[in-house]
Formats: sequence, C-alpha cells, structure tokens
Amino acid sequence: MSNRVIVFDTTLRDGEQSPGASMNAAEKLRLAVQLEKLGVDAIEAGFPAASQGDLDAVASVASRIKQAEVTALARAAKNDIDLAWQAIKHAAKPRIHTFLATSDIHMKYKLKMSKEEVLQTTVEAVRYAKSFTDNVEFSAEDGSRSDRDFLCKVFEAAIEAGATTVNLPDTVGYALPHEFAELVKYVMDHTSNIHKAVMSVHCHNDLGLATANTIAALKAGARQVEVTINGIGERAGNTSLEEVVMAVHVRRDNLDFSTRINTEEIYPTSRLVSMVTGILVQPNKAIVGANAFSHEAGIHQDGVLKNAQTYEIMNPEMVGISSNTLVLGKHSGRHAFKKKLSELGYELGEKELDRLFKRFKELADKRKEMLDEDIEVLVAEEILRVPDTYELEYLNVVSGTVAVPTATVKLKVRGKEVQNAGFGVGPIDATFNTIAKMTGSRSKLIRFTVNAITGGMDAQGEVTVRVQENGLVALGKGADPDIITASAKAYVNGLNRLEYLKRNPALSAKDAVV
Ligand code: KIV
Ligand code: ZN
Repeated sequence: MSNRVIVFDTTLRDGEQSPGASMNAAEKLRLAVQLEKLGVDAIEAGFPAASQGDLDAVASVASRIKQAEVTALARAAKNDIDLAWQAIKHAAKPRIHTFLATSDIHMKYKLKMSKEEVLQTTVEAVRYAKSFTDNVEFSAEDGSRSDRDFLCKVFEAAIEAGATTVNLPDTVGYALPHEFAELVKYVMDHTSNIHKAVMSVHCHNDLGLATANTIAALKAGARQVEVTINGIGERAGNTSLEEVVMAVHVRRDNLDFSTRINTEEIYPTSRLVSMVTGILVQPNKAIVGANAFSHEAGIHQDGVLKNAQTYEIMNPEMVGISSNTLVLGKHSGRHAFKKKLSELGYELGEKELDRLFKRFKELADKRKEMLDEDIEVLVAEEILRVPDTYELEYLNVVSGTVAVPTATVKLKVRGKEVQNAGFGVGPIDATFNTIAKMTGSRSKLIRFTVNAITGGMDAQGEVTVRVQENGLVALGKGADPDIITASAKAYVNGLNRLEYLKRNPALSAKDAVV
C-alpha cells in the first residue's frame, strides 16, 4: 500500500459552516489559489445546492484551479448532484462528493429511511454521479456511530457502483483514537472491494480528538484525510490541516507517510483564512497560534539559546513564519516593503502594491516601527477593498463615566459630504448608530471582535465586523491605534462590502483581486 496521503481540504465547505464564516465567490477564489499553492490534493469548494451564490462560487474556483481536484458536495439526491456537476464541470480535475447517513439514529429520525432504502439510495446516487465523472466520493455520514457491518455493506455497494473514494466521517466528534483506528481496520478488512477505492476519514473536534483520530486512522490504513485550515468548521471544527501535516512531517520516525504539502505555506494560508473569515486563531493553537513558538519561562529561553532543539521540535520557518529578518519603519522603501510582503507569503500585483505602499507610509509615519502584524492588517484591508460607497472622513467621540456616549461623524456618501451625531450605550454603539443613521443601513451586526495586533502602548487595534442584510453577509475590517476609530473603519468597510454584494450578489471570478 502506498504511503502517500491525499490531503482533501474542506475549509471552503465544512470550514465555511463555522458560525458567521460564510464566504463569497471572490473570497473563496482567493483562498483556493492559496490552497493550491499550499499543495493540497483536493479542494472542496462548497455545497452548490445550498444557494445560487455558493454554486457560482464553486464554479469560479473550478474554472481557476488547475493542479488540485475541485470537489463539490451533494446529498444523495439527483437534484443536488446535478447542481454539484453544474458547478464543477469546467474544473481540470472535478470530483463529486455525495453523502448519506448510515447510523441508526440518523436513518430513523432524520432520514426516516430503512437500511435497505439507504443502501439503494447510495447506489443510485453514486451511479448518477458517475454518469458525469469518474471521480466520485461517497461519505457515510455519522459513520463512526453506525453499525459496522452495515457500514461495510454500504461502502461495498458504493464502490461497486463506482465510488473511487469512500469516506468515514466522525460527524459528531464522538470517536476515541484507538476505537476509530479499530473501526478503520474493520472496514478495510470487511469491505471486499476496498482495494478499488481510497479509504478516507473526516473527523470533527467536539472532544478535541480530531487530529488524534485522523492520525490513528492513517496508522490503520486510511490514505485520505479531510481537513481544514486552522481547524475551522461545524461546531468545534474539523481536523486541522496544519496539525496533521506537521505531525506527519515532524514524526516521520514513527509515521511513515508523505504529503504534497509545502509546509512553508502553512502560516500564510492560516493568516489568510483568519483574515477572510474573521475567525481569530487562538494564541495557543498548535502550529499557527501566536504563542506556538514563543518561549516564556526563563529556563526554556536559556535552553533555546543554548540549543533550539531543547524545547523546539520544529522551527517557525518550517511553517512559513518569518524570522523577522527585515524590520520596516517610516524610512523603508518600496523595494524593502515588497520583500517583506513576499517574506510573509503575499505576492501582490503592482497596482495593489502601490496602494498598499502609500498606506504603509501613512501608518509608518505615526509609529516607531511596523511589525509583521501591522503589515498583515494592511494586506487584509487591501484584499477586502471594494469601490467605496461610504468613506469615513471624521470621527469625534465623547464618553466617560458621566457623559452620555455621543459620536459626531462626517462621511462621504457616494462622494457627497454628510455630517451627523448620535448616542449609544457606549462610544462604539454611538458611532455605529450614527453611521447606520447616515447610511440608512438596515443591516444587523452579527459579529464584532477586537484584537490587539501588536504589543506595547502604541499597539494597533484590529476590529472585525460581520454585517448581514437580507441573507447577504459581509466582512469588514479596520485597524487603528485608536480602537473606536478602528471600529468605525471596520463598520464602514463592512457596509461598503455589503453594498458591493447587493450590486453583485453572485460575485464572479473577475471581482477577485487575485
Ligand atoms: O461531518 C460530516 O459528516 C460531513 C460529511 C458531509 C462528509 O461533513
Ligand atoms: Zn463534517
């Protein structure tokens, strides 16, 4: 059996199912391009039956990506499979991924189907998908809680009908590593035609065991892992790509597997996912968290200075975290700036670079030095740039223990200057209320997060908002040493993006500044 592990990335599908993480076509496309650079074998780009917007998004990914397979998810039903195929038919390497639940609880309460019906529907769905493409994956949803022999029967029938990959999901994150490994081995030993398909696993992290279960499954014979960047996904998330890949990489003494992942692209990809989804990475997250490579205790620092391997099992450069060779400040030129961007993993077009460099100079003027995080925020704002309907011209806020929080805002609305003032329960609420009044926005604020992106008293605050109106969700970001100004910038950016989405509900590939 080959030891090559197929990395199937589902950040754009299961990852997108994280609360508030929905992405539009331009965002998916930008991420897909980065995933391809990272070296994943398959990109699950979405669930086309979910909405026309998602179908268009998957189609734009399918027409752009050449090296990786592009996959679309479909329930085991003709209509879903038709839509999935419609979305990926122009891909260089298309794959249809169809699924049906096989556990007693799902069959009885959710599907209201007997075992025989599930078996028959599986066969029909795989055969139908196979009429479009040779590359068909079948997933037994809630597989880890299914009757083992029934699971094998379903996989056998799916392979017989033409499935080239069979996937065993631990849909609710219930399995334990030794038990999951036993199940994979059981399936491999009791599915007579399993040698004709790739055995895949897809784990959720409800008990924090997704990576452990995935590694255990590899040891037991699985050869495809379904993963997401930063482990984002439904509820507690999915198995994180970076954890599995680095476990295989660092522990090759014990894990004799190989992947096609370019590990130096892990960190830039992680940052991009966080930027696009607005989901921050916890500081202590393995591999990509801010503290993953920082040593706090004196004894540890002393050890690392004497020999890094005393406390480091891998070095930050291996995952693409730059060693900060180039520190930028207000005197830095365009060339150094471009080099820094490239060190951080961003290759931008000349026009984007010009705009960004101008903004870099403005910010560098206010600060002693520009850290990598400051630069990444500028990149984020550039990536999220759309034609401005609203521009923030001026903001003055009064608040404190005795004053009623009041904001005075001057905006340019479609090029025309307007000014207004309003109240709120706090300074940010007052600012947002005033901006909403001036723009006539009916959107709902569904997420608001503040992050201090650098340390020290002159740290920049980075604010991320998600605004929603009539089913459209837009992400806005803003950064500023003043947290209220950062919030106003993020809100205005979110409203601009919402306006843009209203005008272009199905953002097409050409809208992405890739
Ligand atoms: O968790 C799950 O079972 C899934 C399937 C659709 C593969 O996401
Ligand atoms: Zn899942």
